[in-house]
Formats: sequence, C-alpha cells, structure tokens
Amino acid sequence: MDLQPQLLVIFGSSGDLMRRKLAPALLRLAEQGLLPERFAVLGFARTEMDDDSFKAMLEDALKVDRKSDAWGWLCERIFYCRGGYGDPESMRLLKERVSELDEKFRLDGNRLFYLATPPEVFDDLVIGLRESGLNKSNGWVRIVVEKPFGNDLESAQNLNRLLWTAFDESSIYRIDHYLGKETVQNLLVLRFGNTIFEPLWNYRFVDHVQITVAESDGVGTRGRYYDAAGALRDMVPNHIFQLLTLVAMEPPISLEADAVRDEKLRVLKSIKPFEPEEVDENVVRGQYGAGEIDGHPVPAYRDEPYVNPNSTTETFVAMRLFVHNWRWEGVPFYLRTGKRLPRRVTEIQIQFRPVPYLLFPPETTGQLKPNLLTLRIQPDEGIILRVETKVIGMGMQVRSTPLDFYYSQLGTKIPDAYERLLLDAMRGDQTLFMRADEVEAAWRIVTPILHRWQTTPAPKFPNYNAGTWGPNEADELLRRDKREWLTS
Ligand code: NDP
Ligand code: BG6
Repeated sequence: MDLQPQLLVIFGSSGDLMRRKLAPALLRLAEQGLLPERFAVLGFARTEMDDDSFKAMLEDALKVDRKSDAWGWLCERIFYCRGGYGDPESMRLLKERVSELDEKFRLDGNRLFYLATPPEVFDDLVIGLRESGLNKSNGWVRIVVEKPFGNDLESAQNLNRLLWTAFDESSIYRIDHYLGKETVQNLLVLRFGNTIFEPLWNYRFVDHVQITVAESDGVGTRGRYYDAAGALRDMVPNHIFQLLTLVAMEPPISLEADAVRDEKLRVLKSIKPFEPEEVDENVVRGQYGAGEIDGHPVPAYRDEPYVNPNSTTETFVAMRLFVHNWRWEGVPFYLRTGKRLPRRVTEIQIQFRPVPYLLFPPETTGQLKPNLLTLRIQPDEGIILRVETKVIGMGMQVRSTPLDFYYSQLGTKIPDAYERLLLDAMRGDQTLFMRADEVEAAWRIVTPILHRWQTTPAPKFPNYNAGTWGPNEADELLRRDKREWLTS
C-alpha cells in the first residue's frame, strides 16, 4: 500500500530511541523504497543543534555516509527544530516550521507526531500540541506514544483522558514494540492459519502455558527510570500481557485493528485481579545480587549507576494467573521476566497434557514426556514441537524428538520491530498498537500487585545471584503445582 505524503515530527529526537531504533528504521524503510516521495522528518528537542548537526548526529549513529542512495534521499528530507517541550513560544516556532515543510514538500497537511521523550514530558507535549493547534490540520494528524503508558491504573487513565482532549482514539498509536516483532505477529498465523493447533488450544488438551522473557543484561544506564519502575511495570502490563493475549484470545472476526483488539481485551477482562493475600501466593519478586554471566563478574543491582544503594525495586517477577473463560478455565499461565538471568531468551511454551493411558511398559520406554510447543520469540526465532518417537532398534524405547523450524533457515533478515510499527503508524493501521481500554485493563490486573507490595515489606533483597534463574520462590511457585520452568 502506497503511503500518503506526510511529515513525521519526532519529539526527543536527540535521544537514545531516535539513534538506536527510529533512525535505523527510517533508513531501512528508505532502502526498501517504502517511504513516500513527498515526505519529511522534523526532529524536535532541547539540545542545541541545527539541521546539519542533527543529520551529522544521525549519520554517526547509523554509521552511513551521505553517498549511500537511501541515506542521501532521506537526508534531503531531515530537519531539526530546537525548543522546550512545554513552552508556548517553542510550539509556535514548531508550527511555523511544520507549515513551511508542509508547503515545501507538498505534504497535504498530514502529520505524524512521535513522543520519543521520557514520560515526564508527555503531558506538556500533548497540551502544547493542543494549545498551539498543531493537532488540527487540513490533512490527518496522528500521535505515537511510547511506553511507559502510565505507572498504574490511575495515571494511565489520566494520560488517556488528556490525549482525548487533543486527539481521537483512532489517531492515537500506543507503542508496544513486542507487537512489532515478526515472531509475535507469527503467533496469529500459527494459530489461525493452521487447522491442527486450534482444536487442541484449550483446557482439554493444554496442561499449562509458560511465558518467559529473560534478559542477561542488567539495567545499564537506565537505572534512574528502572529504579522507579521495576520489572513488573516495565514488562508485565505491556510486553508480557501482549504475548499472553495473543496466545489466549479467541479467533477475531477479521484482522481489522478493532476486531483483534476486542479479542485481546476480552482475555484481559477474563483475568481476575488478585486480592491482597492472593498476591503473596501467586506473585514472586526478586532483585539480583552480584554474580557471573558468561564467566564475567557482574555487579549487584544496588551497585548499578543511578540506583539507590538500598533499593527495594524488583528486577525479577514471576506469577501464576488464570484466564477465566470456557477455553482456559483451570489452565495456569506462568509468567516470568527478569534482568541478569543466565541468558537472553523470550519464549512461550504450551505444555500439552500427558497421554491418558501409558501403553508402553515404563521399564522399556522410560518416562514418556507430554508434547510441548515452544514459540521462540528471540533469539534463534522459531517454532519447536516436541513429539515422542521410537528409538530405532528391536525394542520399544521412546525418546523426545524436536520438530523444528527456525527463521534463520529462510536466510531472510528479520526486520526490527520499529520498522514495522513506524510503517503501520504512517499508513494508519492500528492493529499492532494498544487501545486505551486494553492498557487500562492491563493496569487493572497489575495495580493490586503494586499496592500489595507497597504495603508489605519487600523480601530480603538481593534474593538471587546474577546469572541464575531468579529466586527459589519462583521455582517453588511451580513446584507447588508439581511443575517446573521449562526454558529450552
Ligand atoms: P532519552 O532519555 O534518551 O530521552 C530522549 C530525549 O528526551 C533526550 O535526548 C532529551 O532531549 C529528552 N529528555 C530526556 N529526559 C528528559 C526530561 N526529564 N525532561 C525533558 N526532556 C527530556 O530516552 P529514550 O530515547 O531512551 O526513550 C524515549 C522514550 O522511548 C521513553 O519513553 C522510553 O521509555 C521509550 N523507549 C525507549 C527504548 C530505547 O531503546 N531507548 C525502548 C522502548 C521504549 P533534549 O534534552 O535534547 O530535549
Ligand atoms: C523495554 C524495557 O520496553 O523492553 C527494557 O523497558 C527491556 O527494560 C526491553 O530490556 C526488552 O526489549 P527486547 O526487544 O530487547 O526484548
């Protein structure tokens, strides 16, 4: 689909997201010829730069030189405007610049605003856009909002209400970059493009589901943000719940944005928020101490830059929850995420029930394992189905064999999530963006956990060493159900 002419205005364009994600995504889209001829990018931030130094900053981040065709093409369309986020005079200057570019490139008044700043300035920016009238135009106007989308239910509701004072819901694109990942989108195809899985995808055949988002990195330079947020807010209401809803949702009636989002919302509404005592039973929090990753010593969380040395912020969370509906009643969903775990892996595991009757005598077959479907989101993206097969020979021995597909076998580079999401926002497709009610439903589940943690003392932190799979209580959570974590 050809894109309409448009101006992309990026707030916070001097920052990390611009350099590491948005600029590379724009370059890749330009290389593939996916951007419209009548197109311009206007960066906006407080940092003192002009058009040339802004381009030089991006060039440095992208490690390209101006002679490359795609970059040369893009460079002619990149501009910079310096200003303060809540400052009316800056908004006035920005408006002038927007009109100038609109005229110069014949952009038909179409504007995509991208909030790539820390959330502290989201409110000022929305108010600034509204008060300056930049949210109105003779073309379409859309806004992309980065995560974190609020830090609890109330703040998310406030942000939604504020956004609606300036934009219609149909113009608001709340990013969750997990939805832009190729393997996450493939979940829809796997489930609804095949007949063999769907009949088994329910409480009759599925024993339980596990979702693991493990990172070996620590908090890096983001200690200030992370120490205020913690693993629960940072990963669960967004990335992990997105994976959960795609696994658990009913088939949508179409791939229209609202049809898909309606079904995802129903899953979130089927999860009963925990009562305070249920939080203690079903949710585990952890914080890493010093340890080793890949043979290298790494510091404790409390010794990371910008982290409070007495911090009680969690860097690990595991939980058990249930989706109360006809499809999933009684099937536990075990979720876990953490920093400084032994390796980086994101995967979803669907553990099927064991066979109802053991035909092969245990002494000859050993233990027959139940089937396991692993959806590897990253790295080594792929799909692995564990089936039981006969060991070649005269006996009747059985062993587990993987039937696997890895994306690397295709020899095609997997696009970065931001390429896809930026393109979708530019073409006006909201399917892979979160709707207001979805965000609020997610916070409705997470906020009681935050409240419980605020009113009960944190466990004795640190309670797991960097380079291990989290605190013992996370294993205990599954052991109580006679299960164990299954990371492949
Ligand atoms: P940065 O901290 O790099 O901030 C971006 C820019 O915003 C800065 O260059 C700065 O520009 C301005 N800024 C920073 N702090 C403040 C502040 N307190 N008040 C006003 N302006 C400020 O953030 P990122 O680029 O890493 O992230 C931007 C957004 O994207 C955030 O909401 C983040 O959560 C989200 N995000 C980022 C990811 C990443 O990989 N970086 C991944 C997923 C989401 P100047 O001083 O020039 O105005
Ligand atoms: C971000 C979180 O949203 O997602 C980070 O703020 C986390 O803490 C990151 O590291 C994980 O993303 P990915 O794509 O590397 O799995």
